[in-house]
Amino acid sequence: MEFSCVRIAQRNLARSKKRSDPAVDLEDRNILVKDADIWNGKGFARGSIFIQEGRINRIARSIIDTGVETIDAAGFKALPGFIDVHVHLRDMELAYKEDFATGTAAAAAGGFTTVLDMPNTVPPTDSARRVIEKQKVAAQKTHVNVGFHAAAVSDSHDVESLAGAGAFSLKLYMPKPIVPFDVENDQAIQKMMRAAGDAGMPVTVHAEDVDAPKNTSQGEGFEEAAEARPPIFETRAVDRLLRIQKKAGCNVHYCHLTLRSSLMKINASTKSTSEVTPHHLLLSKQLLSSLGWRAWMVPPLRSEETRRSLLKSTLAGLSSVIASDHAPHTIKEKNQSASRSPPGVPGLETTLPLMLTLVNRQQMSISLLVKLLSENPARIFGFKSKAKLQKGADGDVVLVDLKKKSKIDSSRFFSKAKFSPFDEFKTQGAVHSTIVGGKVVYREGEIVTREGSGSVLHSGFSG
Ligand code: NCD
Ligand code: ZN
Repeated sequence: MEFSCVRIAQRNLARSKKRSDPAVDLEDRNILVKDADIWNGKGFARGSIFIQEGRINRIARSIIDTGVETIDAAGFKALPGFIDVHVHLRDMELAYKEDFATGTAAAAAGGFTTVLDMPNTVPPTDSARRVIEKQKVAAQKTHVNVGFHAAAVSDSHDVESLAGAGAFSLKLYMPKPIVPFDVENDQAIQKMMRAAGDAGMPVTVHAEDVDAPKNTSQGEGFEEAAEARPPIFETRAVDRLLRIQKKAGCNVHYCHLTLRSSLMKINASTKSTSEVTPHHLLLSKQLLSSLGWRAWMVPPLRSEETRRSLLKSTLAGLSSVIASDHAPHTIKEKNQSASRSPPGVPGLETTLPLMLTLVNRQQMSISLLVKLLSENPARIFGFKSKAKLQKGADGDVVLVDLKKKSKIDSSRFFSKAKFSPFDEFKTQGAVHSTIVGGKVVYREGEIVTREGSGSVLHSGFSG
C-alpha cells in the first residue's frame, strides 16, 4: 500500500478544516475498516466502518465497493481512539529527551489518537505566543491529534489569551510552579481558578503539597526519596484545592492521584475530575529497591495496600480518567542518585497493553476501559466529535487484538526514553493498528505515516 508523501499543514479540527492541499489530503483520509467487532457503546457488533474525508461516514453490517483503501479487520476489536490527557512530549529545548515526532509515534503505537501535552518544557508553555509556537512546531511533526495545556499564570488577561490561543487547561504544578506562582497563597489560586472558569477552561493540578525538600539529601536511595513525599502531601493539597475550587467555581482535573480517599472526595465534589496512572495502579514502592530510577516518578509509588485500594476503587468506577503521565528522560539523567535523578517514566506504549491485560483477566470491563481512556477524557476536555464510533464522529479508531500475548520491551519503544518499570511484564491484548482522522498511522509494529500527518487541536474555548 502506498502512503501519501504530501505533508499536511496544520489543521484545526475543532474550528475549521483548513488544509494546504484539500483534494489530496481528503482522499488520503478515506478508508474502509472491514469486518471488525465494533464497539457501539454497550457491546460489540460485527461490521464495517467507512471513514470518508476523516470522518465516520457509515457503519453497517456489510459495506462493499467503496473503492477506497481497505483494512481487513476480521478478528480485531474496533474501539474509539484513546485519548491521553497527560503526556510530556518535551521537544523544543528538551528534544533530546523526546520530541513531537517520537512522542506521538509512541502514542500511535500505544493506541492513543489524541494527546494533550504538558507545559513544563523549556521554554515553558506560559503565554499565548508560546502555545502558538508549540502548535506550529507540532504541526510539522505530529503523527496523532495533539493539543496543549498551558502553565497556570497569575494575570487574568494572560489566562484569557491562553484560552484564546487554544490551550486546553491551566496546569498548576504545586511542588514547583512552572512559572513563578504563589502556590502558598489561597487567594492567588482562587483568582487564577476564577479567571480560568470565566474563560471556560479547566484547571489541571499536580496536587502534592511538598512544603520543603527537607528529607531528601544528596546520595539517598529512591525508597527514601519516596518516603520524603508521603500520602499526606497529596491529602493536604487535595483538601486545600477542593476548598479553593468551591469558592472559585471552576472545573478542576486532579492529575495522577494515588489515594482512594482523594478519589472519594473528588467524586463528592461537583466540577472535579480525577486521574490515575497505570504505575500507581499496578506497582508499589517495594519495587524501588530493585528497580531504583526505573520506577522513580512523582507522586512516588505507594505501599502495596494503598495501591490495591486505588486499583479496586478505579475498577469500581471511582476514577474519571486513566492517563499515562508519559514523562521521558534520558537514561543518563535517570541513572543517578535519587536526589539528582529526574522523576518520571514513559507510559504511552505500556498503558493500553497493561489495561487490556486487566480486561482479559476480567478485572476491567471494556466499557470501563473506553470510559477511562476515551469517553471521559473527551468530555472533560471538550472533544465533542471524539470517543464514539458513529456516523459523523472523527475517524479515530484503534484496532485491538485482544488475544495477543506479548511482553513489555522498552528497547522497542518509539519513545526516546527506552526504559520502563514494566519491562518484562507479560501482557495480553495489543494494538494492531491505529487510525487517526481516517489515516492509518500505526500498523503491526510500524509507523506508516510521515511526520506532520496528525492534527493540532485547539480547545475552542472562547477566551
Ligand atoms: C513529570 C516530568 O518529568 O515532567 N515527572 C513525573 O514524575 N510525573 C513532572 C512532574 O509531574 O513532576
Ligand atoms: Zn505531575
